[in-house]
Amino acid sequence: MAKDQCIGVLTSGGDCPGLNAAIRGLGKAALDHYGMSMIGFRDGFRGLVQDRTLRITGEQLSGILTDGGTILGTSRDKPHKMPFGDRTEDMTPAIVETYHRHGLEAVVCIGGGGTQKNAMRLMDAGLNVVTLPKTIDNDIAETDVSFGFDTALGIATEAIDRLHSTATSHHRVIVVELMGHRAGWLALGAGIAGGADVILIPEIPYSAEVVANAIKRRARRGHRFSIVAVAEGAVTIEQQKQIDELVQKKKEAKDREGKKDVSDALNQFHEEHVDHTLRLTGQLEKATGMESRLTILGHLQRGGTPSAADRLLATRLGSACAEVLARRQYGVMVAARGDATETVQLEKVAGSKKLVPPDHPWIQAARLVGTCMGDE
Ligand code: F6P
Repeated sequence: MAKDQCIGVLTSGGDCPGLNAAIRGLGKAALDHYGMSMIGFRDGFRGLVQDRTLRITGEQLSGILTDGGTILGTSRDKPHKMPFGDRTEDMTPAIVETYHRHGLEAVVCIGGGGTQKNAMRLMDAGLNVVTLPKTIDNDIAETDVSFGFDTALGIATEAIDRLHSTATSHHRVIVVELMGHRAGWLALGAGIAGGADVILIPEIPYSAEVVANAIKRRARRGHRFSIVAVAEGAVTIEQQKQIDELVQKKKEAKDREGKKDVSDALNQFHEEHVDHTLRLTGQLEKATGMESRLTILGHLQRGGTPSAADRLLATRLGSACAEVLARRQYGVMVAARGDATETVQLEKVAGSKKLVPPDHPWIQAARLVGTCMGDE
């Protein structure tokens, strides 16, 4: 039944470890098991617009399981807002044309939250789409976990381990900034695994004073160093109030694109506070009297070979995706549910974010082992 199916595949959004493993899992199952043919599109949705392809055969799939990045290349370009110099254009019609030119049965979009939304836009334009969840942020709704997260967690944990010995030797406070966009999964997970003394995540607005007091208490007990793990999206209690007001105002404006305006405003807010960990480091040095340093892990967290868990997850999701395509089920994301996989309607995924719930067991565990979460 699947023999006449030609499938497109692209990777979009920030890269992460496990993308190649997913392409391989999908490709091997689709080509070898179901007898489909497959075309890769380069650099995300832009490759569909410009019809820049990579024909996927066994040769392309061989030896990529352990490689970081993506053999297809990626970009953050959106079909409906494709940048050309200083202007953007809705390139959905060009994508639809490419899709039909290649006689595609469906296109698999591998990406994070933004990709899920863009895939749904293509679905609304009449294309058959299936998505796979990837991101180091672990913030995609309706899946237990996304690939990329476990590898980033390992890298960030190792970094915190290494920061411990230098912080101890110099009796310093080390603030370490971790990625995660607006979600705290990575900072929380790595903070717990690395034994950080303070963990600050976007879901729990913090007070710098509370953090400084926790560090001083530790120093009085003889621990003359502290590791403060901060998510890049963490905000103070004061900033959270400003964000709430901003969102409220935008909602009240009720213009046609009200929802989009809210996220634009939020992005702008975070861009304006991009140096917040540097400021926090200075505040802590002043308030505690202890020498303080900042380490920003940045894109290190997204590079290199995927962990065994991510290779396994990406292979499971990729191969399950081929099965979904073979039964011609479209408009879904292939999600991880325990040891199994399941399909979730794209409508349920697109536009939603999986944040850390305040009563999540990881937060409870962190508090129980005495970690300061910045709020009390
Ligand atoms: O979504 C993955 C992620 O690494 C986020 O954690 C981070 O906020 C963002 O991408 C960085 O994006 P870019 O690589 O485009 O700077």
